[in-house]
Amino acid sequence: MLKTEFHSNQTVAFDPIPSLVSCDWNFPGQRNGEGLYNLHPYPAKFISQIPKTLIKAFNIPKDTVILDPFCGYGTTLIAAQSLGYSSIGVDLNPIACLIARVSTQDCSQNIVESATRCIQKAKATEGLISMPYIPNLDHWFKKPIQIAVFGLITAINEIEEENLRDTLRLALSSILVRVSNQDSDTRYAAINKPVEKNDVYSIFSRVCQQYMQVLHSSQEDYPNAFVLNKNILEVSPSDIPSKVGLVISSPPYPAAYEYWLYHKYRMWWLGFDPLLVKEHEIGARSHFFKKDHHTPKDFENQMQKVFKLLSKICIQNSYACFVVGNSKIHGEIIDNTELLVSAAAQENFELRTILPRNIPSNRKSFNLSNSRILTENIIILQK
Ligand SMILES: C[S@@+](CC[C@H](N)C(=O)[O-])C[C@H]1O[C@@H](n2cnc3c(N)ncnc32)[C@H](O)[C@@H]1O
Repeated sequence: MLKTEFHSNQTVAFDPIPSLVSCDWNFPGQRNGEGLYNLHPYPAKFISQIPKTLIKAFNIPKDTVILDPFCGYGTTLIAAQSLGYSSIGVDLNPIACLIARVSTQDCSQNIVESATRCIQKAKATEGLISMPYIPNLDHWFKKPIQIAVFGLITAINEIEEENLRDTLRLALSSILVRVSNQDSDTRYAAINKPVEKNDVYSIFSRVCQQYMQVLHSSQEDYPNAFVLNKNILEVSPSDIPSKVGLVISSPPYPAAYEYWLYHKYRMWWLGFDPLLVKEHEIGARSHFFKKDHHTPKDFENQMQKVFKLLSKICIQNSYACFVVGNSKIHGEIIDNTELLVSAAAQENFELRTILPRNIPSNRKSFNLSNSRILTENIIILQK
């Protein structure tokens, strides 16, 4: 059904679909990932142009919010905020939620001064505090690096002001792969890197200075973004404090990316349990490669549960936009677009259009069999 827009005395049908269809969703020549969109690595992140273009295309009532039920980095939330809309993001992964919170909230205190104090404390306690148990730690981090990282995290965790503590935790998280023995964010091989204990302090300090340049200050006035760290399959309508006027999301589709694995050591260091995240992560490869493994039908059922929730919290006629690619499981291509559209239809979300786009060649995955999948779809549904 078409929404309506009132122009003087006439009622004019407003259909956003033609302008969406005529858009080039590959955004050739446009740069992505600066400032707030580049605080921390995150796999399978949206390019900011996708949520920005979608938000601009729809009439979103001002008393509603934009929801991303799999918010990851929080790209949708940052885009919504930059265009004057309040938003809500949900994600299972605590690192995702930390990034989304820090990038959308203000940090009123002086980040750099606080970072310097943490570095001083960490240096003063070097070798005096006992390490937490983290599996295989010596394989991935040299002993002196472990001492510096743990000293820093201990000092940061003592900060009372929540936004400031979150910001410094995120800054430390962002440098962990760089100071570890891990080759790169997407390659789990231990190599010998010329990193010393003092590099941990200097890189951390440099990142905090960069954060200071880009994070919101308390003087700025911007719309609210609320981040909920929860399994979406356990979210109830009462967890979502406002009516939803637009959904923009990209679900974790079967056997494509391993978000828990990507952030495994970040979670250990920050005091979270990655194994718990793995257990509930939709689409995680391990669920598809075990005895009694998950099937594409399980994914469809999970998505149907998500649409059941959306049907209760989205206003009538509102749109839900989902970006999804195909998967390859046990040698077979799985059409996730079809599964998602079928799940949506069962909860009365009507398919309005499907917009294809190319997946950028620099988007790396742990699953090499998947890297030959070169396109994804933006599925536009309407309640
Ligand atoms: C494709 S990513 C989203 C990326 C996001 N659009 C961005 O720009 O960063 C999918 C997200 O779903 C999250 N996820 C996986 N299983 C989940 C679950 N059961 N509940 C909530 N979030 C989940 C993952 O942690 C991941 O962040």
